[in-house]
Amino acid sequence: MSADPSSVLVEPVPRLVGHLAVPGDKSISHRAVLLGAIGEGETRITGFGRSADTEATIGAVRALGIELYEHGHETLRVFGKGLRGLTPPATPIDCGNAGTLARLLTGILVGQDGQEFELTGDASLNARPMERVVAPLAQMGAACETADGRLPLGIHGRRLRPLSYRLPVASAQVKSAILLAGLYAEGGETTVVEPSPTRDHTERLLEAAGAQVARRPGSVTVWPAERLTLGEVEVPGDFSSAAPFLVAATLVPGSELHLHGVNLNPRRTGLLTILERMGARIISYNRRAIGGEPGGDLEVHSSSLVGTSVGADEVPLAIDELPLVALAAACARGRTVVSGAAELRAKETDRVEATVDALRGLGVRARAREDGFEVTGVPGRLRGGRMESRGDHRLAMLGTIAGLVSREGVRVAGADAVGVSFPGFFEVVDELRRASIVVESDRR
Ligand code: S3P
Repeated sequence: MSADPSSVLVEPVPRLVGHLAVPGDKSISHRAVLLGAIGEGETRITGFGRSADTEATIGAVRALGIELYEHGHETLRVFGKGLRGLTPPATPIDCGNAGTLARLLTGILVGQDGQEFELTGDASLNARPMERVVAPLAQMGAACETADGRLPLGIHGRRLRPLSYRLPVASAQVKSAILLAGLYAEGGETTVVEPSPTRDHTERLLEAAGAQVARRPGSVTVWPAERLTLGEVEVPGDFSSAAPFLVAATLVPGSELHLHGVNLNPRRTGLLTILERMGARIISYNRRAIGGEPGGDLEVHSSSLVGTSVGADEVPLAIDELPLVALAAACARGRTVVSGAAELRAKETDRVEATVDALRGLGVRARAREDGFEVTGVPGRLRGGRMESRGDHRLAMLGTIAGLVSREGVRVAGADAVGVSFPGFFEVVDELRRASIVVESDRR
């Protein structure tokens, strides 16, 4: 691979064989730090998923006056100051590239009665919608000023009132912001109704912290809280970081890969359902609870795939993996259509256009739709070439996996974007390549 960290040449691999573990779940890591900060006393987080995004969350809570100690790479101790103990910093809080941090922290800060805060982010985050969070919070009595519906965001903490709100788009970030604000809403319960189920890590951690939460099919209710105590949080491996390897091992013939300690929360594993429908051979074993989430190990064998249709209900369960679905589709027989996925256009990049452009540049027949994409696949025919991450971590990983699977290799420009969620990604790819080649020569 190239020494230039922003451009990496990924050569095809003969097969992928081995065992690996991926870093701690990013969504849960953000939430554990944020809830630890508004909890009472010490929260100990193990298996923390360290990345540029979660470092931004550590920086944010420290800026808000929270003591947080780091022990080695994956253990944190957060000393919470209670629900109303955050103190405003003199300068804006920098959320970097992290949409989850910006949205969830807003839900907490609007409840800090009498205090003023400002949130900002990098160019990508400052271009993403915040109005979807600010509008329901305003109905709870929150006072926020956006820059035309986006960051930078000024927040004036207020006394909040309860709300019952139907989400116009399925978004765990928006749901979570409202639930967190609901902890501060005096005199009643706050309910969020979802158009279709999204990841439920906030609900699970709030329950673990002692908040009163009621979960019904299609909605979640929280009651105002007096105190939260999280204690210990063990973060499972991130399914979204395991996903590139699941797709790679499915597509590279002769592969057999094991991924250990992965979060298998069904609100996150839509990719498994989609790949299985396409003909993939992925089995879970050692099923166990990891930090209050369903978890386990995965075993993947390569197999040939056929095209499929993915509709709106499946989209939130696989939202961050849809670019990988497009790659799987490119190597499957026949046509794949993903619809009901307009939300992809509001991610770190417009992931409909970015995915389709990237794959077309590698020789794939793909077409963007307003709410998704269409791919016509031909097994064994992914040519390769050059693609741009556009600063988007999921795109950089997509290009890398495409390189492993391709006939000619892929040069990924802006590959350092992987650091947003998975800084050790290329080390894992290199190690796996070496281990697989050893296995290959042993077999001869
Ligand atoms: C996340 C929710 C999803 C996802 C993002 C992380 C979370 O966003 O795309 O990477 O941690 O809640 P939306 O909820 O806005 O779809």
